[in-house]
Amino acid sequence: MFSTLLLEVQNGIAKITINRPDKLNALNKDVLKELKEVFDKLKDDESVNVVILTGAGEKAFVAGADIKELNALDASTGKDFSLNGQNVFNLIENFNKPVIAAVNGFALGGGCEIALTCHFRIASENAKFGQPEVNLGIIPGYGGTQRLARLIGKARAMEIILTGDMIDAKTAFEYGLVNKVVSSSELIKTAEEIANKILSKGQIAVRMSLKAINAINELNQSEGQKFEAELFGMCCGTQDFKEGTAAFLEKRKPNFKNK
Ligand code: COA
Repeated sequence: MFSTLLLEVQNGIAKITINRPDKLNALNKDVLKELKEVFDKLKDDESVNVVILTGAGEKAFVAGADIKELNALDASTGKDFSLNGQNVFNLIENFNKPVIAAVNGFALGGGCEIALTCHFRIASENAKFGQPEVNLGIIPGYGGTQRLARLIGKARAMEIILTGDMIDAKTAFEYGLVNKVVSSSELIKTAEEIANKILSKGQIAVRMSLKAINAINELNQSEGQKFEAELFGMCCGTQDFKEGTAAFLEKRKPNFKNK
């Protein structure tokens, strides 16, 4: 169904694999188009509650935007190119279900940026992160200047983007760029374990949490808290809330219906 992606759906988890291993999974226009299609498709798919995003092969998660396509840009098409990528990445960041990046190998340029749009990141020990766009005479254009600085702080983002240097998985962990570092062979298993833990919770509460935390991108503290209270109130109107609290009081496991 997709020419640049693999999609596997099993037990509530959708695994999307960007599949251009001969080009280190570089993001060309077909990949971006299919990423939009796959997230649109999964949004309303009742059988999916968590997404794992990864890259094909051992070597790379995604080695960036496709430099062959970049090479053809000019000042006007460049802006549209950036906006198009930003729109697709915004879709992922604002996706209604958790998206976990399982970063195997190089996550460079657009590859680092797409990992940043995921809700959190698990990396293999051989992962390398970087924004090498300055080496090509450009800046990160898929949201990287904004998301990296917000996530790891301005000074560290400045150093990574201005030098174009890569950081290893251990440093990425110390910077708070990744949540966990595991061996390559454990990467998908670890992402699935976390996904399964999330799947065992009430999914309305999971999605409301996601929405509330994502609001830090748009809202100040007091607006954010008002929004939090609204979502909290909505949760209190669900069957899951009655079930979760009753199960605690009755010393049993909750049986959430996601209603
Ligand atoms: N766009 C297009 N093709 C890419 C690519 C990218 N971002 N990154 C890698 N490739 C292609 C290479 O051109 C090569 O294709 P070929 O076999 O047809 O020549 C293939 O993927 C393998 O890459 P190669 O460079 O031979 O592997 P390597 O192990 O020597 O180096 C990297 C790995 C990641 C260090 C190197 O590929 C690289 O620097 N890539 C570009 C990273 C980048 O600048 N990304 C930001 C873009 S905004």
